[in-house]
Amino acid sequence: MKKHDLVYLTEDATHHDAIELINEEAFGPGRFVRAAARIREQGPHDQTLSYICADRGETIASVRMTPVMAGGVKGHLLGPLAVRPSHKNMGIGRELVRIAVEAAKKKGSDAIILVGDPPYYMPLGFEKVAYAALTFPGPVDPARVLVIPANADIHDRLKGEIKWRAG
Ligand SMILES: CC(C)(COP(=O)(O)OP(=O)(O)OC[C@H]1O[C@@H](n2cnc3c(N)ncnc32)[C@H](O)[C@@H]1OP(=O)(O)O)[C@@H](O)C(=O)NCCC(=O)NCCS
Repeated sequence: MKKHDLVYLTEDATHHDAIELINEEAFGPGRFVRAAARIREQGPHDQTLSYICADRGETIASVRMTPVMAGGVKGHLLGPLAVRPSHKNMGIGRELVRIAVEAAKKKGSDAIILVGDPPYYMPLGFEKVAYAALTFPGPVDPARVLVIPANADIHDRLKGEIKWRAG
């Protein structure tokens, strides 16, 4: 029998409890005060662009996408991304990012933005946003604000407040 049987699925309501536990385990109670979480509090994520990974039917990883206005750019905020400790370093995080980015691009997103570790995300195609160009509703390390822009001129327009928008 195979050790793992991984499937990637679009998130639906049946995954919500498991996703809550995965994020609690990965980020702890402090997760609600993070700057990106403050944006996510402003409105719902886009479930059609959010994905889970299940192993033999058990949800073991999740990535979410939230529609945002970032300065003058209509984009999406990627996160949280979390993989259960039992399933780390199997390429699941990378695959979830790839699927979610692809789906957001297909939907016409001009920028996929996140706050995260550059050494993890830059090899996946993310670039640094101009230092402190975007203002978050809470403290954020500007060196960790990253983007996949739809085209080169997006960088110039990523200036100002980032906030939730109706999808
Ligand atoms: C970060 C996280 C999502 C990675 O998921 P994963 O499925 O284990 O990662 P992958 O298998 O796709 O990639 C593994 C590689 O990324 C590296 N990596 C993991 N976390 C990293 C980080 N924070 N910074 C740099 N590299 C990282 C691993 O060392 C590994 O490198 P290798 O391929 O050279 O061996 C997962 O570890 C996790 O849930 N962490 C806790 C929550 C978290 O921090 N999420 C946001 C990240 S900013």
